[in-house]
Amino acid sequence: MGTIVSPSLLSANFANLSADIEMINRSQADWLHLDIMDGVFVPNISFGFPVIESVARLSTKPLDVHLMIVQPEKFIRRFADLGVMSLNVHYEACTHLHRTIHEIKENGMKAAVTLNPSTPVCMLDDIIQDVDMVLLMTVNPGFGGQKFIEHSIEKVRQMRELIDRRSAHALIQVDGGVNFETAPRLVAAGVDVLVSGNTVFSAPDPEEAILKLKQM
Ligand code: DX5
Ligand code: ZN
Repeated sequence: MGTIVSPSLLSANFANLSADIEMINRSQADWLHLDIMDGVFVPNISFGFPVIESVARLSTKPLDVHLMIVQPEKFIRRFADLGVMSLNVHYEACTHLHRTIHEIKENGMKAAVTLNPSTPVCMLDDIIQDVDMVLLMTVNPGFGGQKFIEHSIEKVRQMRELIDRRSAHALIQVDGGVNFETAPRLVAAGVDVLVSGNTVFSAPDPEEAILKLKQM
């Protein structure tokens, strides 16, 4: 099956999003990763519902939504109504993570939880059996094109160990600084899903870059 690849739209050409979405549709990408930033949880603002609605209409790939916002529980229903496949909330943004995870599932979406680079994997010990996916940030969230944090490799191994110890089935996703040098090491450490913005969209042939990541 190969590694699951979820290109991040954050590095696309926002003046001509439909061309980039069509490229993703044609490609071997498994999902489309949407980065939603509120300027509060992270020091940047990306895009909101008017854009997401248009993207949802054009994309034939399942939408993998990464919410970098405070109070993400406010918007669960709206993302469900757009047909989103999976909703990713940050551990650091959820006071009642268990409730939020179950609300996401009750609304028919896959539930995922994201950890910032400084949040240890042990914080998920009591929720890992309830989530479909864990996203380990391999840069500080907020911007595309940042440098990979090397400690992430060790963290992926720790996450894999926790999942196995709890007999859980969560996928491990990584996001930030994924390139042809870091991707094989991440996959060897136990990653199931690679998010990639810059490596895909700055490649001379983005479709080929996606294929190459899938073969990692
Ligand atoms: C960062 C976002 C990422 C970002 C990754 O806050 O969550 O999805 O687009 O970009 P690259 O792959 O360029 O590091
Ligand atoms: Zn992301």
